[in-house]
Amino acid sequence: MREEYKQDLHPDTLKEHSIEDGPLVVDESQITETTAQYSDRELNKTELTEDELRASGYTTHYGANKEKLIEVKNLKQYFNVGKSNEVKAIDDISFDIYKGETLGFVGESGCGKSTTGRSLIKLYDATGGKVYFDGTDIQSIKRKKDLLHFNRRMQMIFQDPYASLNPRLKVMDIIAEGIDIHKLAKNKQDRANRVYELLQTVGLNKEHANRYPHEFSGGQRQRIGIARALAVEPDFIIADEPISALDVSIQAQVVNLMQELQRERGITFMFIAHDLSMVKYISDRIGVMYFGKLVEIGPADAIYNNPLHEYTKSLLSAIPLPDPESERTRVRHTYNPDVHAYSADDVLELREVAPDHYVYCSPSEYEKHKANYNHHKGTTAVGQL
Ligand SMILES: Nc1ncnc2c1ncn2[C@@H]1O[C@H](COP(=O)(O)OP(=O)(O)O)[C@@H](O)[C@H]1O
Ligand SMILES: [Mg+2]
Repeated sequence: MREEYKQDLHPDTLKEHSIEDGPLVVDESQITETTAQYSDRELNKTELTEDELRASGYTTHYGANKEKLIEVKNLKQYFNVGKSNEVKAIDDISFDIYKGETLGFVGESGCGKSTTGRSLIKLYDATGGKVYFDGTDIQSIKRKKDLLHFNRRMQMIFQDPYASLNPRLKVMDIIAEGIDIHKLAKNKQDRANRVYELLQTVGLNKEHANRYPHEFSGGQRQRIGIARALAVEPDFIIADEPISALDVSIQAQVVNLMQELQRERGITFMFIAHDLSMVKYISDRIGVMYFGKLVEIGPADAIYNNPLHEYTKSLLSAIPLPDPESERTRVRHTYNPDVHAYSADDVLELREVAPDHYVYCSPSEYEKHKANYNHHKGTTAVGQL
């Protein structure tokens, strides 16, 4: 079977497939629906209306509760400083993450997304700038007790569900690791009960606790990773490309699970991905990175319907469209930084073009964006970009 067909299989013909199962073979005659159509259908299933969200007493929309959980100010993270291989992995970025929201973070491989995520959980000493968590400068957290408390409040879910679980531990002990470190269980029975409950929360069951990671498929392993993160009852979860290594049929399930968790528990999420296809469904706001810079950030609808930066437009043009007719005529745009034609004295910075919608640009681009914004508002369909 040709590699490109894999992307367009009807998901019902795909059982959860793990890498160890060997190559995936599917009868091509069964292809009836594209991935994008499937994603739309799957994801819309659990989509609650605004009214339902309000009725449930909780709305994930940051607009309702614009309290900052994280504040990033002029953050720089350089590697190999002063050497020939110096990398400006993050080059002066500023943004906030509001309590209870999902912030999607997208950009091509190597643009600095993971480094940003890791900086937020204090894995590096910043080259410059500051990160505040709930008002506290994270670099000032030094005492062991404070560090432990800080670490409990933020958790990370990783891309590779194969490498991120210790193969020698049973699922029980993998999930309970944080419970042990933070001494959250009253006794052995309480510890086990907590793990059983977490397994149920992520759609697995009690019996799975006694098994080893290799006995699970990729999607199931990612559920175990999510259960492990939830075990310490964090306020903030960074999911670093949590679905990139999974089959398309499983991606929507894992995304739905995270979305449910956020609604039920009010956890703040940063969801990192290299493209916009899943991110647009679950994000309240989306940030777009390009070569260490944050080039655009704004409400998900605005990024999707009214992208300003040429790079964002190129990312959007890469998303497959559900409608076969538009998909056939979809034109992919490649971003060429030369289009900006910046001069040496142009001051480039993130500027607010519309409420909460910022784009990295020069003063003259800023004027153009502002003039165009209202004109385009609500009229630009992605297929017409
Ligand atoms: N520990 C490190 N040492 C040196 N360079 C690094 C390190 N971590 C990341 N980089 C470099 O920083 C850049 C950004 O990497 P990363 O944040 O992993 O990007 P992304 O997650 O968007 O793919 C890349 O050029 C990468 O090679
Ligand atoms: Mg990465």
